[in-house]
Amino acid sequence: MVRMSDDAKQAAALRVVMMPRDANVYGTIFGGVILSYIDQAGFIEARKHGLHRWVTVSIEKVDFRAPVFIGDVVSFLTSTESTGTSSVKVRVRVEAERYRSGQTVPVTEARLTMVAIDAAGKPIPFDSPPSVGPKDREQPAS
Ligand SMILES: CC(C)(COP(=O)(O)OP(=O)(O)OC[C@H]1O[C@@H](n2cnc3c(N)ncnc32)[C@H](O)[C@@H]1OP(=O)(O)O)[C@@H](O)C(=O)NCCC(=O)NCCS
Repeated sequence: MVRMSDDAKQAAALRVVMMPRDANVYGTIFGGVILSYIDQAGFIEARKHGLHRWVTVSIEKVDFRAPVFIGDVVSFLTSTESTGTSSVKVRVRVEAERYRSGQTVPVTEARLTMVAIDAAGKPIPFDSPPSVGPKDREQPAS
């Protein structure tokens, strides 16, 4: 297993404006909405290691430290913590930029394990040649 340096820079994989549809009746954003974006950010980070089908096999405990509000701009900052044969472990840090003040608040942090799989759903080494190609893309209507 290859370990990356602890100070590996985190890049924003995603930045999303929170909308009323993402909120509960109190006006704060559902945790599940943030988890869904964490999952997508994990995929975007994993894809840097190979053009494959990537699935999430594990998300470690996620604690929400501050609420997210409608209008906040939420950033999902990713880095690769370690790599195995078919799997990569991704760290996702979540920050909310407040709509009114512009202040940035740490919201949560997650660690996901993403696994590269073939068309049959079996794990493959992620450093193998790309396993998705033109046939996997949507074809334009003729
Ligand atoms: C991901 C999946 C293909 C792995 O299958 P598997 O039979 O466990 O495969 P393996 O035991 O060979 O493990 C494959 C890799 O995953 C890792 N892994 C498996 N289970 C894990 C877990 N719970 N946590 C962390 N890593 C795990 C293994 O360490 C291995 O890593 P490596 O190749 O880098 O050494 C299978 O579990 C699966 O399809 N899960 C569902 C994924 C999914 O659909 N996610 C979305 C949920 S809606």
